[in-house]
Amino acid sequence: MKILVVGSGGREHALCWAIRRSPLCRELLCAPGNAGIALLAELVPIAAEDIDGLVAYATVGGVDLVVIGPEVPLVLGLADRLQAAGIKAFGPSAAAAALEGSKGFMKDILAKYRVPTAAYGRFTEPEAAKAFIRATGAPIVVKTDGLAAGKGVVVATSLDEALAAVDLMMTEKAFGAAGNELVVEEFLRGEEASFFAIVDGTTALPLAAAQDHKRVGDGDTGPNTGGMGAYSPAAVVTPEIVAKVMERCIMPTVRGMAAEGRPYQGILFAGLMIDNDEPKLLEYNVRFGDPECQVLMARLDCDLVELMLAACEGRLADCSTAWKPDAALVVVMAARGYPGPYEKGSAIEGLDAAAAIPGVTLLHAGTIQDAAGRVLANGGRVLGVTAIGSTVAEAQSRAYQAVDRIRWPQGFCRRDIGWRALGK
Ligand code: AMP
Ligand code: GLY
Repeated sequence: MKILVVGSGGREHALCWAIRRSPLCRELLCAPGNAGIALLAELVPIAAEDIDGLVAYATVGGVDLVVIGPEVPLVLGLADRLQAAGIKAFGPSAAAAALEGSKGFMKDILAKYRVPTAAYGRFTEPEAAKAFIRATGAPIVVKTDGLAAGKGVVVATSLDEALAAVDLMMTEKAFGAAGNELVVEEFLRGEEASFFAIVDGTTALPLAAAQDHKRVGDGDTGPNTGGMGAYSPAAVVTPEIVAKVMERCIMPTVRGMAAEGRPYQGILFAGLMIDNDEPKLLEYNVRFGDPECQVLMARLDCDLVELMLAACEGRLADCSTAWKPDAALVVVMAARGYPGPYEKGSAIEGLDAAAAIPGVTLLHAGTIQDAAGRVLANGGRVLGVTAIGSTVAEAQSRAYQAVDRIRWPQGFCRRDIGWRALGK
């Protein structure tokens, strides 16, 4: 098959890495990709948000399957457009991707189909949101309804902070139209985990779970980021939790979305808060997590393309998944300044020496290659140093050995990825 992966992050490098292992993959393309993906796939210079460009390319180029990595093209309807053109697309329709595209829609679905989640209100007027906040009290969580690249959430510890978030999002429009509507919700306590299922419209199979590290600094301090590192398996997601999440969250959502006329196909990523072995759903994402995908693909021990095709064709009931018993851990290296402003164009050296450590794979995110063949930083999150090991401790030690061989003074990483697992 000729397969096109859409996206340019570490998640898409990980997907290309897993797809390349499949005997079903004859030719692999990636739009727009990065310097690491270029070693596995032919890069196509079309942006992930350029829906017309991608559909035209896939049609003319005879692509058999398009794997859509990020949420934005899904919310913009890339999967619908490809299917209308007769091309298989792995990922939900725009109507189903609303689970991530509108937090208010997602919360209404959870309420209607009785999925355990935080109590909430939806608001289109700042004064109404503020009245709800005053009546509920702090801590309280204020979120933009629409996509804000992971930044539209304020976990407020005081009333003043929550009220200021309403002004920032709704009145000052810090996140543009994403803040036209807000969701305000109850603060949940517990331990977070990232839970993934693959879905074909009616059947869902659980994949491995992972834990992300969202804050930029060691000890989970500083601002939120897209994710600074992850590991899998996540000890907190026991087989009992998997059963509860499938029964109470994933299956009611899959049945509910079908009943709403928005059947869900693709990866359903449940952000969980687990307290006393009781999982609650924080949010859905309609794609793999980044960097969670990197550790999942390091552990996947079956054919990803076969699973994706089965999801496209409604055949998941006949499929199963397999995972290596190993642990996997990824350390994200980012440009200094991230998640705030940062510079691009610095050279990264020592990559071959780092990749030579047994069990280590370098998964690129924001990188490009210059004419001289040097790898340059080209984004905020730049590299995912991924390692497997018989334990999380071994995977962590290998990943940091590899990090220490990388010479990139303009970059940084957290030094404590995996701390929760190692403390257990
Ligand atoms: P989200 O983008 O909705 O996953 O929110 C980003 C982060 O904010 C989550 O990973 C949590 O750490 C935190 N968060 C979101 N909603 C809540 C909540 N209701 N209670 C506590 N923390 C939350
Ligand atoms: N790492 C969290 C996310 O991809 O949303």
